[in-house]
Amino acid sequence: MTMKNKEIVEEIKKIVEKEMEGTDPSHDFLHVMRVYNLCLKIAKYEQNVDLEVLKLAALLHDVARSKEDFDETGKIRHEMEGAKMAEEILTKFNFSKEKIKKIKECIISHRFRGNDEPKTIEAKILFDADKLDVIGATGIARTFISVGMYKQKIHRDIDINEYVKENLEGGRKNGRIINLRKHSPNLEFETKFKYIPEKLYTKIGKELGLERIEYMKKFFERLKKEINGEPNFKVRHSYF
Ligand SMILES: [Fe+2]
Ligand SMILES: [Fe+2]
Repeated sequence: MTMKNKEIVEEIKKIVEKEMEGTDPSHDFLHVMRVYNLCLKIAKYEQNVDLEVLKLAALLHDVARSKEDFDETGKIRHEMEGAKMAEEILTKFNFSKEKIKKIKECIISHRFRGNDEPKTIEAKILFDADKLDVIGATGIARTFISVGMYKQKIHRDIDINEYVKENLEGGRKNGRIINLRKHSPNLEFETKFKYIPEKLYTKIGKELGLERIEYMKKFFERLKKEINGEPNFKVRHSYF
């Protein structure tokens, strides 16, 4: 990347940070930077990655997040709107049509739920990095943001099959949550997070994902213990 392009990246960071003002702490500019850093890490293990496309796609992937969050019609999809905004921004910086097209493809497929599966290596890396950000220590922090937002319990000790039947649409683990207040971080872990690594595209992404899941699992086990007055350990001082 030429010096000029480095400066452009810095300019685009500023634009994105401004656009994302007011988004919730799970999806703010810090999320964008975590995803950006993860993209660069994953790219080291992959071949033929266009780093320029990857960096710009990572920076711009959630640029329309606040537009979706504050949209009262419920029709705005931030991946589609974001691709449009990215095109406008990148055109101003004189990127070629071909580069812009590649970057837009990455942005559109980062939220793959149906038709737009990530196809290029850059799109796959962005997808993986974005999903890795919902697990690990970061994922734990993010789930507790939801606890505050939706007035959930910090932990619910309930049979997982019973819970799925009761509060997830169609009684399926990947079904939409019916009542957000009845959800909790450990239930999100059991129904969703655990399955993230297998959905990732890159080998290193899957590995990073499994390591993050291990960490989360320990956290939720410990949380459950603490709620029950454990863990037991040898008390160092005598109090009585
Ligand atoms: Fe997104
Ligand atoms: Fe994202």
